[in-house]
Amino acid sequence: MSKGNIKMSYKDTLLGKIKDKSIKVGILGLGYVGLPLAVSFAKKGINVLGFEKAPKKKEKIDKGINYIADVEDADLAKVVNDKSLSATTDFSRISECDAVIVCVPTPLDKFKKPDMTYIESACNDIGKYMKKGVLVSLESTTYPTTTEGFMRPIIEKASGCKHGEEFWLCFSPERVDPGNEEYKTENTPKVIGGLGKDANEIAVALYSLAIKTLYPVSSPAAAEMVKILENTYRLINISMINEIALLCGKMDIDLWEVIEAAKTKPYGFQAFYPGPGIGGHCIPLDPFYLEHIAKNYQFDLTMIHTAGQIDNLMPHRMTIKINSALNRQKKAINGAKVLFLGVAYKPDIDDERQSPALKIMDEVAKKNGIVMYHDPYIPEITTDEGREYKSLDLTDSLLKEVDCVVFTTNHSDFDVKNIVAKAGIIVDLRNATDGIVDGDKIYKL
Ligand SMILES: NC(=O)c1ccc[n+]([C@@H]2O[C@H](COP(=O)([O-])OP(=O)(O)OC[C@H]3O[C@@H](n4cnc5c(N)ncnc54)[C@H](O)[C@@H]3O)[C@@H](O)[C@H]2O)c1
Repeated sequence: MSKGNIKMSYKDTLLGKIKDKSIKVGILGLGYVGLPLAVSFAKKGINVLGFEKAPKKKEKIDKGINYIADVEDADLAKVVNDKSLSATTDFSRISECDAVIVCVPTPLDKFKKPDMTYIESACNDIGKYMKKGVLVSLESTTYPTTTEGFMRPIIEKASGCKHGEEFWLCFSPERVDPGNEEYKTENTPKVIGGLGKDANEIAVALYSLAIKTLYPVSSPAAAEMVKILENTYRLINISMINEIALLCGKMDIDLWEVIEAAKTKPYGFQAFYPGPGIGGHCIPLDPFYLEHIAKNYQFDLTMIHTAGQIDNLMPHRMTIKINSALNRQKKAINGAKVLFLGVAYKPDIDDERQSPALKIMDEVAKKNGIVMYHDPYIPEITTDEGREYKSLDLTDSLLKEVDCVVFTTNHSDFDVKNIVAKAGIIVDLRNATDGIVDGDKIYKL
């Protein structure tokens, strides 16, 4: 059989399996991105095998126990029960899969450089164990050129297979927005960037099994840039509004009122809201992946750099706000009991990664403040500097006992009126007290 025939035969076999839904999909990394995706495929009757490095997550899946808020408990239990979804820590079972989707972390190291070790390890496992004729799709956020320039050589070397003939690569960025009630994995349009026409065709066929709307682009690099563009847009706009919030604070202008008024313009303005800093796994990190690759082209991304500087300073500036609020009541941070409300990086979710609250808590602790917190979604935390805290019950006596209450995240189930009524000083970094006028005790961002 000629090379051309081999290529056709692998491709046709894979497309045939996708069409009759006999395909087995492997998903590497069952976290905030991987688990919802796995459940989306499994709900459509696709056989999904999740690969996890963390044995505890595998054990939970075995028992049908959900650990990601965006996944419905009943959905997970059902797909585990009907054997559409299972999990393993045995990566040799990649050989069972017809398609492999990579959803592993892409953090930054302490110098804000991309940490590619998770993708590298995933590619080595895939290359070592995959059979011929598979599609490999990367969903982790990364810098443009990763799929072609970083993944392809690792997989080709580890497998001895040739891209475009014996396997195909694609990049399809995950756009999950934790806590979003309207847009979930299945109904969020998905961008697909296959490496070559065949890869695009196969990837579109695969993802259309689980996702409603697909938007193919011409290359993995274009798809990688799409994701980074989306998050860079958010980083820069949020940093911009945070900086303006600081100025408004000095000028005694209520920025929240200003934003509501600006929003009445029917075109050309999109509202971004200030807060104590930028958190989560994506927005504070992803643009620095772009900055990294730009340096290879001797190109300085000055706006990302400036936005990063504003963001880095926010926790310190918020600590100054807490200090001034206490000072106005003739108190000092030193020795003050400071209760933080909400440590998740945004409302109504259970994710505290990169949360600015943790950084502010560290700053207050270093100034000898007595740090406490309450978060209904997060029972315990370890801050960036290694301090450990447990969430306290939000009782009236606790509110009365503390010197200062800080709204770091405005979870919707906070009884804000009661908190304002019972607490002494309130530093509101999220406009949680919107509409409550109590000039003597509420200090806003
Ligand atoms: N969380 C979000 O809102 C979000 C949104 C869009 C994109 N992303 C991107 O998606 C990727 C994953 O993010 P996440 O939030 O799901 O991370 P996560 O930490 O919740 O999940 C990643 C999982 O991968 C596992 N893992 C690590 N190395 C592995 C390996 N070699 N093989 C198999 N499993 C491995 C970890 O144990 C973990 O369970 C990141 O690149 C992130 O930037 C995240």
